[in-house]
Amino acid sequence: MSAPSQLPPDDAGTPPDTNAVSDVPAPADATPYPSPRRQLALQGGAIFLVLCIAVPTFGLGNTPWPWGGIAAAIGATALGLAFLTRQPWWWKLIHALFFPLAWAVSGLGIDPGWFLLAAIVLLLIYRGALTGQIPLFLSNRATVAALAEHLPPGARVVDLGAGIGSVVFPLAALRPDLHLRGVENAPLAWFIGRVRQALGPHRANVAWQFGSLWDERLEAVDVVYAFLSPAPMAALWDKVQAELPPGGRLVSNSFPVPDATPEQEVVAGGDHGRHLFFYRVGAERVEAEE
Ligand SMILES: C[S@@+](CC[C@H](N)C(=O)[O-])C[C@H]1O[C@@H](n2cnc3c(N)ncnc32)[C@H](O)[C@@H]1O
Repeated sequence: MSAPSQLPPDDAGTPPDTNAVSDVPAPADATPYPSPRRQLALQGGAIFLVLCIAVPTFGLGNTPWPWGGIAAAIGATALGLAFLTRQPWWWKLIHALFFPLAWAVSGLGIDPGWFLLAAIVLLLIYRGALTGQIPLFLSNRATVAALAEHLPPGARVVDLGAGIGSVVFPLAALRPDLHLRGVENAPLAWFIGRVRQALGPHRANVAWQFGSLWDERLEAVDVVYAFLSPAPMAALWDKVQAELPPGGRLVSNSFPVPDATPEQEVVAGGDHGRHLFFYRVGAERVEAEE
């Protein structure tokens, strides 16, 4: 199956530019992430530290604590903990910017209800980041084109953590022979995909589902596509190996499975494009039978 030289008009964009590289070495271990229990302990410790600064400084009287002082205490505590727990530089930068930004915004006199609304909207979109360290970011068109080129004819494909359908809907247009399903558990992202399914032009071969990827049964699936984060990759590979039929594939965008060797690595979108790691379930058994 070869990739079309151009995307159709409604999906026009970066043309497919893929390089298949076989026999890639086993990937290095994924970044170790703190467990949810450790995260909770850090949050609790941070609240305690802020109170240790705020109570002696501002007292426990009837007057509300000053915005600026509390923001400074929270910002300093978060920055200190970021250094102590050796977080990446960009987290330290975010913590360092928190106090001056909070201070500046407090002067704008914005109704607190707007902040609550913003927090709710963010939660509806980024639920996955809070509950499973999997935020929302989208696959690009070069990735979709690479998938269209490499997926077997008539395959049953599921995008676990499907976002707003950036893979399944354009892929349905490029490959009408595929049977596609998207599973998403962030309510607003799922809703946008649901609207696309109801109104979009390419939906005949797409099922769109609300739910957790961990509850999804994969026995009747040929290819799992995942663009998640380093955190769930080991558990996802365990699930895929346990449930997919032999010969089934996991295609992971950008995040390799720790301690597993992909049968193929495809760079979608040129030298600086995204890496797609193709893993095959029960590869030895299938080869022995052939
Ligand atoms: C990086 S985005 C990828 C979106 C889409 N697959 C794409 O490639 O454009 C990961 C998505 O997984 C979703 N997600 C995170 N945890 C999930 C879970 N347990 N069940 C279903 N979806 C989840 C997030 O809400 C987010 O939309």
